[in-house]
Amino acid sequence: MLRLPLAQPEATAPDKLPLDLEDAILQLRQQRNAVILAHYYQDSEVQDLADFVGDSLQLAQAAQRTKADVILFCGVHFMAETAKILNPTRTVLLPDLAAGCSLADGCPPEKLRLWMDRYPDHTLVSYINCSAAVKAMSDCIVTSSNAEKIIRSYPASQPILFAPDQHLGRWLIRQTGRDNMVVYPGSCMVHEIFSERELVRLRMDHPRAQVLAHPECDERVLRHADFVGSTSAIIRYAVDSPAQEFIIATEPGVIHEMQKRAPGKRFIPAPAEGGCACNQCPHMRLNTLEKVYLALRDLSPEVTLPEDLRLRALRPIEKMLALS
Ligand code: 13P
Ligand code: SF4
Repeated sequence: MLRLPLAQPEATAPDKLPLDLEDAILQLRQQRNAVILAHYYQDSEVQDLADFVGDSLQLAQAAQRTKADVILFCGVHFMAETAKILNPTRTVLLPDLAAGCSLADGCPPEKLRLWMDRYPDHTLVSYINCSAAVKAMSDCIVTSSNAEKIIRSYPASQPILFAPDQHLGRWLIRQTGRDNMVVYPGSCMVHEIFSERELVRLRMDHPRAQVLAHPECDERVLRHADFVGSTSAIIRYAVDSPAQEFIIATEPGVIHEMQKRAPGKRFIPAPAEGGCACNQCPHMRLNTLEKVYLALRDLSPEVTLPEDLRLRALRPIEKMLALS
């Protein structure tokens, strides 16, 4: 059968982009009664346009509070999916559906089930960086902001499985002293690339700089940190600290907020192995102002999920929000 080429839909024609994208986005936001939520790892121009910028927990809480008809989520898929789980009647948009996460992608539910079957007495606690299917298998969800508090809320006698981030999991074991917690072998492609050797070298050049690290980093990097915390905790620490110079061992998108709130201080991104610039999250950075505009204009790409899965994933998220 002869197939005629499909005409380029007018709605996505690149030549139809307005000259003043920011203004066009703000107009569409009003017309759509939309709220724009952005993670600290987004490009600074996307952060500056958002109604709310935060870490994973704050963004889930903002999604829970919103009364907007449309949530435009500038972050990665699991974050937008969490917003949809909390808001089944609202339209949740992600500017680029390919914005995934190496932690979520490395932990498919079938593989997790095989691993869990080896530990029948354990209860599963999952990092929010996972799919709805993995959330649905979990007793509780955590983020890097509340993980320690939530792990401590389980009786010491309760054995725990922690998925999917091995580095956050091991950091939690060190923080809580729990010896009955087993960690899944997942990791973040961005945080595991920081180089201990380059960090030590950089610290010699900046002896007064404090090292601030995200708990997704490898232990070899974390042991050099003056402070370990979530993106929002790292930002707060940098702003409040009397120190003037900081080495930042997480995605460098956080530096935008640090510079805004502490303009006189110096923030140096931690180096990756081989000096490459691969500490930018390639998933987060897929979202651009152009895609934000197109998403609001076309109400697409939309994040959806089956209702039975949504309900199963909702329970451990609600448990986390109640414990936060
Ligand atoms: P936060 O919850 O600290 O913002 O971290 C999210 C994330 O994806 C880190 O890589
Ligand atoms: Fe996932 Fe790592 Fe990107 Fe965070 S920085 S979204 S954990 S790939």
